[in-house]
Amino acid sequence: MGVGDKEGRRDETAELARRRGFIWSAFEVYGGAAGFYDYGPLGTLLKRRIEEKWRDFYRREGFYEIETTTIAPREIFESSGHLESFTDPAVRCKECKSIFRVDENLTVAVKCPECGGGLEASGEFHLMFQTRIGAGKDKGKGGSDEEAIKRSEGYLRPETAQGIFINFQRLLKFNRDKLPFGILQIGKAYRNEISPRQSLIRLREFTLAEVEVFVDPAADKNNHPRFEEVEDRMLSLVVPGADEAEEKSVEDAVSSGIIANEYLGYHIARVDEFLECIGLPRARLQFRQHQQDEMAHYAIDCWDAEFLSERYRWMEIVGIADRGDYDLSAHARSPNVNMHVHTESGEIIPHVIEPSYGIDRIIYALLESAFYEEQIGKEKRRVLRFKREIAPIQVAVFPLLNRDELKSKAVAVFRMLRDAAIAVEYDNSGSIGKRYRRQDEIGTPHCVTIDYETLEDNTVTVRERDTMNQVRVAVPELKDVLE
Ligand code: ATP
Ligand code: GLY
Repeated sequence: MGVGDKEGRRDETAELARRRGFIWSAFEVYGGAAGFYDYGPLGTLLKRRIEEKWRDFYRREGFYEIETTTIAPREIFESSGHLESFTDPAVRCKECKSIFRVDENLTVAVKCPECGGGLEASGEFHLMFQTRIGAGKDKGKGGSDEEAIKRSEGYLRPETAQGIFINFQRLLKFNRDKLPFGILQIGKAYRNEISPRQSLIRLREFTLAEVEVFVDPAADKNNHPRFEEVEDRMLSLVVPGADEAEEKSVEDAVSSGIIANEYLGYHIARVDEFLECIGLPRARLQFRQHQQDEMAHYAIDCWDAEFLSERYRWMEIVGIADRGDYDLSAHARSPNVNMHVHTESGEIIPHVIEPSYGIDRIIYALLESAFYEEQIGKEKRRVLRFKREIAPIQVAVFPLLNRDELKSKAVAVFRMLRDAAIAVEYDNSGSIGKRYRRQDEIGTPHCVTIDYETLEDNTVTVRERDTMNQVRVAVPELKDVLE
């Protein structure tokens, strides 16, 4: 996570995440490779909790999840437009020949971040990873060697969405031929990013959690049945040309046309709600509408949920797009593909509203915003203030001293909590103060200590992470108190 590239608090988060087993560079023992990170035990627990919360959140919308392949033949991306348009503009240093992605901060007018040399335009760089499916000699379908090789060309998916679109007719049947319906998919996506120098923000392999909602544009887009549930929610909105965000209720934003329709407004509000429910501070969230020339090739309207990072400023963590009928129409141009639906308004191709969550960027945002440091006497206390529901470890159990009678009781309490499906850790090494600090650093909300009083009256000390307050709780009540 860019450990050591700058001084200060932000690096402490990164260093802690690596040291405590959340995230580290992939292939570390071979020197690493830019844009690839591995999740360690605590990072994986944290990631799974977020993914599970996300699933629960969208299951409440009545949406089903599917799992499609991560590799697809060339023709899928030929139809979807990715083969032609999924590129980023690049610049190259005239001196050291490093290549960079063009963005707001890096254009030909700027000097090379590596060596200070001048930069020149280097054309469009294709972001999909190519592979071969099979031996590439399948001439069974006829044609030349060249055509056979082209047929074997495959690509690693740059988004999970296409797997949903190409299964549309099956999914429609599953939904008894009725619109609207939503489909979820969580999985790996791959983009051969030009210059991934920003830790979890720009990876070449990352996790997307995507929702594709298929709607009848005439009947549904301005008539979301649950709009009332979100209409009063206040959002921070930045429209093209504005310098800063404006606070508006979802209803105001939709009725004044800032957000184009109820469906999009509803899903922007739900994204905001989800990000809040996993613990991202609302003061550091805003929704920014794309400029016309910034939009992906498939989108007719797009809003980014952005998190205010101390290191990266406003960064996109979720994209919410109105993809119109772009994708289904694009696939429908292939022979034998039918994407039409019979509705009361006739035979239509549905529109798609898509919230697309980048799970790794969300984890980065959570680590950065949860990190807190305070001086206690001569010691620094570092804390990850995760909400209990997403904390990798929910409870730690300690014997006060390393004595058999305390240890056996502590192990019994530990097992009781583990059997109650609480994520619990047992620790008897080092001083009690050190054990508290260790748990603070990984964000464990509660520590339970077994002492000599426990052996007399069956009560334990429960210490709360943020306030460090301690209370005594009877063991039979412990599970309920912790929950
Ligand atoms: P950016 O403009 O930063 O490249 P994007 O517009 O390409 O992002 P989308 O195509 O909208 O991003 O992808 C949806 C989500 O996937 C983003 O909101 C982001 O959270 C995540 N994402 C995209 N690219 C990456 C990447 N290289 N590494 C990690 N997460 C990514
Ligand atoms: N599926 C949204 C994106 O990849 O941009």
